[in-house]
Amino acid sequence: MMHSNPAATSSSVLGPFHVSNPPPLPIGGDMKGDHDGTVLLVEGRVRDTDGNPIPNAQIDIWQTAPNGLYSSQDPDQDIHSFHGLMTADDSGHFRFTTVRPVEYTVPSDGPVGELLEAAGRHPWRPSHLHYIVTAPGHRTLVTEIFPDDDPYLDQDTVFGVRDDLVMTYHEKPAGEFPDGMAISGQVTEPFLHVKFDVILSPQ
Ligand SMILES: [Fe+2]
Repeated sequence: MMHSNPAATSSSVLGPFHVSNPPPLPIGGDMKGDHDGTVLLVEGRVRDTDGNPIPNAQIDIWQTAPNGLYSSQDPDQDIHSFHGLMTADDSGHFRFTTVRPVEYTVPSDGPVGELLEAAGRHPWRPSHLHYIVTAPGHRTLVTEIFPDDDPYLDQDTVFGVRDDLVMTYHEKPAGEFPDGMAISGQVTEPFLHVKFDVILSPQ
């Protein structure tokens, strides 16, 4: 699973919290909803290893809610909360808003906990956005995006971090929030902005 084309975006772990049939998330759509927290604007482009845009790639996105739980772990969330399936535009561009994902602990009861304890390791993962990116003629990419200021970046308990998956979340004033996003008119506080391009290997 970790065999990667060095010219393409690195793969990372899938984890147990993906759901089937994620709801469609339009370009410019929002996953934050009524949840508290700083708005995170995520955008990028899907392209091939020659730099050409891949039109209409599909991006399946999921993450933790601000309470550190995925929807499948949390009876207070709808199962589709913080899950979305986006189709990139003709030039491979995608963009959406959410809240910053948070660090969490992998379930540390049972055999996993015993292994961690035997190895003298903690159960924390750095915060991340999960992506599965698919496009005809290209290898499906299962990956994650990490912010460069996360305290657990160098000690991910499941070793999912790769250098090219670490991005900076830039702080921006509210006035710089772009038009054309679902929540454009509602952003009255500073927000975070991350750009992440995805490069897929040919099949
Ligand atoms: Fe995760």
